[in-house]
Amino acid sequence: MIVSTNKSNPNALKLLIGGEISGNSVDVRIVPTNDSPLGRLPTLKLPNGITLISSNAALQYLVPGDEQQDVLVNKWLEWDSTQLQPAVVSYGSSGSLDTSHKPRIWSLLTQLNTSLKSQKYVITASPTSADIAIFSTLWCTITVTEISKELSTEFPHVDRWLKDLEALPAMQSPLSKLPLLDLERGLKSISSLHTSTWFPLNSYTGVRSQKPPQDVNTPSSPTKEPETAITKHELETSRNNWSSPAHPSIKPPTYPVLPKQNERNILITSALPYVNNVPHLGNIIGCVLSADVFARYCRQRDYNTLYISGTDEYGTATEAKALEENMTPQEICDKYFGIHNDIYRWFNIGFDYFGRTTTPEQTEIVQESFLRIKSQGYIITESVDQLLCEHCDRFLADRFVEGTCPGCKYEDARGDQCDGCGHLVNATDLINPRCKVCSKTPVIKASNQFFLDLPKIQPNLKEWASKAEKFWSNVARAVTRPWLRDGLKQRCITRDLKWGIPVPLEGFRDKVFYVWFDAPLGYISITKRYTQEYERWWKPREDTKVDLYQFMAKDNVPFHAIMFPATLLAADQGHTLVKHIMATEYLNYEDTKFSKSRGIGVFGTDARETGIPADVWRFYLTYIRPESQDSNFNWVDLATKNNSELLNNFGNFVNRALTFAVKNFKGVVPEMEIREEDLQVLALVQRELSQYIVAMEQGKFRDGVRHLLAISKHGNQYMQSQQPWVLIKEKGKDRVRAAGTVIGVCCNISCLLSALLGPFMPETSRELRKQLGLDGSTYGYIPDTVSILLPTGHQLGEASPLFSKIEESVVEELRKKYAGKQENGNNGTRAGESVEELQALIAAQGVKVRELKAKTDKSVWQPEVQILLQLKGKLAKMTESSEGTVNTATIGVEKQVNGPTQNGKNEYDIAALEAAIARQALFVRDLKASADRSVWQPEVNTLLKLKKELSDATGVITPNPGDKKSKKKK
Ligand code: 2FM
Ligand code: ZN
Repeated sequence: MIVSTNKSNPNALKLLIGGEISGNSVDVRIVPTNDSPLGRLPTLKLPNGITLISSNAALQYLVPGDEQQDVLVNKWLEWDSTQLQPAVVSYGSSGSLDTSHKPRIWSLLTQLNTSLKSQKYVITASPTSADIAIFSTLWCTITVTEISKELSTEFPHVDRWLKDLEALPAMQSPLSKLPLLDLERGLKSISSLHTSTWFPLNSYTGVRSQKPPQDVNTPSSPTKEPETAITKHELETSRNNWSSPAHPSIKPPTYPVLPKQNERNILITSALPYVNNVPHLGNIIGCVLSADVFARYCRQRDYNTLYISGTDEYGTATEAKALEENMTPQEICDKYFGIHNDIYRWFNIGFDYFGRTTTPEQTEIVQESFLRIKSQGYIITESVDQLLCEHCDRFLADRFVEGTCPGCKYEDARGDQCDGCGHLVNATDLINPRCKVCSKTPVIKASNQFFLDLPKIQPNLKEWASKAEKFWSNVARAVTRPWLRDGLKQRCITRDLKWGIPVPLEGFRDKVFYVWFDAPLGYISITKRYTQEYERWWKPREDTKVDLYQFMAKDNVPFHAIMFPATLLAADQGHTLVKHIMATEYLNYEDTKFSKSRGIGVFGTDARETGIPADVWRFYLTYIRPESQDSNFNWVDLATKNNSELLNNFGNFVNRALTFAVKNFKGVVPEMEIREEDLQVLALVQRELSQYIVAMEQGKFRDGVRHLLAISKHGNQYMQSQQPWVLIKEKGKDRVRAAGTVIGVCCNISCLLSALLGPFMPETSRELRKQLGLDGSTYGYIPDTVSILLPTGHQLGEASPLFSKIEESVVEELRKKYAGKQENGNNGTRAGESVEELQALIAAQGVKVRELKAKTDKSVWQPEVQILLQLKGKLAKMTESSEGTVNTATIGVEKQVNGPTQNGKNEYDIAALEAAIARQALFVRDLKASADRSVWQPEVNTLLKLKKELSDATGVITPNPGDKKSKKKK
């Protein structure tokens, strides 16, 4: 086998190690960077002539894993190519180390370290392809930069793992061959990764590794493992299917869509977004876009489909926003409803109806449901202590009150949680509580609230869930199980707020329903706005079956797996309960979290300003949909996927087929006489089509996209191997007929692709249909089998390119633009506007106050204390937003605590330690909400370590998370 590589490329080392471990002899050739197919190096040429152009795919080919390892191995290979390598490239590409990218590397190393630790990894004589890939990337680069000094202290598991791998006997020969690869460890190798010819590529997710080359006798797609051989049976089936086209067309849309007897009736919802937040890309792929992809798929399969959603408009957040923007809550709702609506329209989200919860239908349904459930005996009343601000004449919701934490005495604790120590706080336990609006001291007042008696419904709910959960996504099951296992508690469903649906009972009319009860019923009321016959969906007749699919991100699972079904079960009126909970994990943005206030990430309104078409956004977001783990949006990756998959692969294939037909066959589908080689490609396409359908039915849209792209890859290879442009120039009728057959088959595959593309890229799908001479106002039916869709004689339309290239310079611009205020120096940032700056200011101000206190009297230092308090307040505000905080706690610790200048702790160190503790506490809180113990425990340990350092330095003990006695019930 031959590895062709440019000089100094660490990816070539992978293949050398892979060869050694698998016992294959691998020759190395150094080639110029422009000497490679699709502009990628290194490549691996197999004995059968096939060249693999993704180094990680080639590595997997050399070192195939076993089935059980596959998921994990794929995950880490993808991580290497889409996260680690781009981060390394940004870190070192400018020829010197760009320290602004260090945090990214740091967070990736943290992930790796945590994982290695929790896996209790064992190095065996045969490391996996993922081990080899990550080892090669790090060993050539990071381990020889200044970060290497910190490896052993900060990332001991990574350090150990690298050293163990390096010591393996099988590594010795490849590592000794560095001169052969022209490879020097260090900066040079980083910049060799960053040739314009290098793209991170990972198209093997979801594709099982197959056996090595000897068994392969069919052309394989360049980026995935070779296929197993096409069987005779498959060829036979392909021949039969091809000539028996029987495709139903999609029924035209009707209004209203109602469930029908003997049909597959699919009711789809996406979680109702809070009206006052502008959704970011993560929200969009988690809810409305995923549901839309599925709804479009269902419609193109001719299922009877209804897709509804809307904005969730009641609650404190809206009240807060109204105060902030000096509007009434209803005005806020109207304004933001419009914003949501515009965003989703731009993304081409095809709701049958997008409604809202501030409607008379919602009031009626919520109040009626409450009374019904109460009459069934599932509502109880209990007295709850709350804070009342007599000055503002309102009970204070948690986010409207601040005070001193009863545990750590941090002065700016919030009403639900303390950012100083990370503990949950009871608002009524705060010392010196103050109303956030008027700063006056509220009083404690007891008031009666209604609770849903979940323990009473639990047996019923548990029985339902045990059967239903097999249709839920993994994360939906994982979130729900502990709730049911640990036993449900009564849940308060009312509040003393103003903006909400009033409780319809005398003596309680000044209370409103809380989101837990109110929001899910929005699905029903929004359906009622859509059609008066809404009950046909929500309380279907005996003879009609409705399958409810609910899409959401993982934080909304308790609404859909516990609260909503519990509500409906308690009502006992034969409601449709969710069948498929389609929950996703979270999407990160360039390895950090989206944050509106800090300007980090692309929000719905930004997307259209990037100039990137909605369809490309849809495609890329689906490509990286966080299905089995949190995933990461990355600009370079977006450009790569657009340029390689859409432009070079998909676009290139359909465009070549169409232009060839237009030029050589007058734009008419030629006669087709199917030969063995045509059947081969039809059989390969059939395989992918079947897997596409399986994936889409299960809500595995990432796989759906990959099977779609595999079809055009097969098409490209078929065209390449058949060379119709050669055939047509040769003499002889049969040659021309062969060329016609190839082009006819390619046009038909393109037509199939136009249908399969519809759910992901609806506009492009219709444009392609137009070019194929079909009705561009409709979508194609998604068939089960590959057959003639465009018969001989069909008049094609005009061919033109479907996609445009996204230049690196463009994504670099965009990356900067949405990188947040601290990275983007020229967007009017003032000192103290980012969390980091504020923390630095607080630390400095802390030192100043301490010095003044030691030397001067109160009149001098008191004003400085005020400034300190203001800064802390600002920081608390900034970090409390539900948009999340940056996962840089450990980085902060490293910068502020372990800095090289320290010898013993001075005042600055102490202030810095405090800031680091506050930040780490936040980080832990976020992690606990979204990850499991193996992930957050190490971070808790870091927090404890920091606290220990602080108490050693100051002699004051701060409480620790997990201290039973100080834990407050919420
Ligand atoms: O958490 C949220 O985003 C709320 N707006 C509730 C969404 S789920 C509900 F719609 F069922
Ligand atoms: Zn007040």
